[in-house]
Amino acid sequence: MPELPSQALPPRTASYEADPAEVRRVLLLYSGGLDTSVMLKWIQDEYGAEVVCLTVNLGQPGEDYAVIEDKALQLGALKCFVVDAREQFAWDYVAPAIKANALYGDYPLFTALGRPLIAKLAVEYARMTDCDTIAHGCTGKGNDQVRIEATVATLAPELKVIAPVRSWQMGREQEIAYAREHGIPIKSHAGQGPETAPYSIDDNLWGRSSEGRWIEDLGHAPEDDVFQLVTPPERAPEESEVVEIEFERGVPVALNGERLGLVELLERTAEIGARHGVGIVDHIEDRIVGLKVRDIYEVPAAAILLPAHRELERLVCTIHQNQFKAGLDRQWAYLVYAGLWWEPLRADLDAYMEHVNEHVSGTIGIKLYKGHARVVTRSSPGSVYDASLASFAESGGLFSQTASPGFIELFSLQSRMAWRLHNE
Ligand code: ARG
Repeated sequence: MPELPSQALPPRTASYEADPAEVRRVLLLYSGGLDTSVMLKWIQDEYGAEVVCLTVNLGQPGEDYAVIEDKALQLGALKCFVVDAREQFAWDYVAPAIKANALYGDYPLFTALGRPLIAKLAVEYARMTDCDTIAHGCTGKGNDQVRIEATVATLAPELKVIAPVRSWQMGREQEIAYAREHGIPIKSHAGQGPETAPYSIDDNLWGRSSEGRWIEDLGHAPEDDVFQLVTPPERAPEESEVVEIEFERGVPVALNGERLGLVELLERTAEIGARHGVGIVDHIEDRIVGLKVRDIYEVPAAAILLPAHRELERLVCTIHQNQFKAGLDRQWAYLVYAGLWWEPLRADLDAYMEHVNEHVSGTIGIKLYKGHARVVTRSSPGSVYDASLASFAESGGLFSQTASPGFIELFSLQSRMAWRLHNE
């Protein structure tokens, strides 16, 4: 049996980290996977503490929550709460992200949206069940530890945190040995034995990320088995399909003319995009903790809804609003990416996003074909567009072409003067 001595617990560096002697009852964020299952046993043994589990449903596909709950109880949890938080996630986290066109680098935020909600629920359930400590399964190398711990430390200064994967000295092999020793069932992955490491996956209804294995080799092109959600574009249908998304005040409300609740709309859009191979992003990210890491993302709903929203927003906003908002969008995404969901600047920015989006209503058509999603039609009652003004055929009305030379003379005045000074 692997050695897991108490001296493996490292000294604490942050005020919110738990003092082992004071850990009595732990709220564990439980996924049912290897890390958190080993953790469930290990916390009971190592800290002599009771464990309450919390599993949060954010719309990650293919989970059997009854199995997860049974497994937790079998491994000694006092109780395992399974919370369906899809509505709250869609309305309070995804909708603001759509209004802010939230991209970090080239990919739509989704893990960064899920973590603050998961951690907020952990705080609520920890308080409700009299836990003194929250445990999560993040490593010490990622952004997720930042998002979860910053949330707990912000919302619940009385609660402490432990992150066993960050401190225990076990690699995957030792975790498997520990699991065998303690009768913890181990799932095998993609038809392979448990010794084959799976991809490290996080997903919710707004996206899915895979890390690890060959993805760490930057020279290695994606293998098809990583795509569990999106059809590889080569195998997508030969016929294109146009989807129409209707928005009201920046929020998508109907798909192809059918009004849907937000969760259902996000799920149905994801299905259609996935079928057409839309939303694969192979991305090197600059993590908050300093590392550069490659991720493969599958974001079929976001790859349709974000471009549709941005297009509509550009149509109803002026040139000045459009230029200004892009910078605020980037700032919003960076704060959220970096785990500062509760930072007041995010709320300040949201007030701006809300105000701009009051006019973002209308319908955008997007053509999907073998991995591509391209806007093809637009209509909005708030559109700052007038076909008769823009047309090449017509002149007159509000727009006088004969006024243009005067405009050009004045508009280019400083640039012309400077060019002459520097070049003559
Ligand atoms: N790198 C992405 C981010 O920081 C996704 C992280 C996914 N998390 C995971 N445990 N696989 O937002």
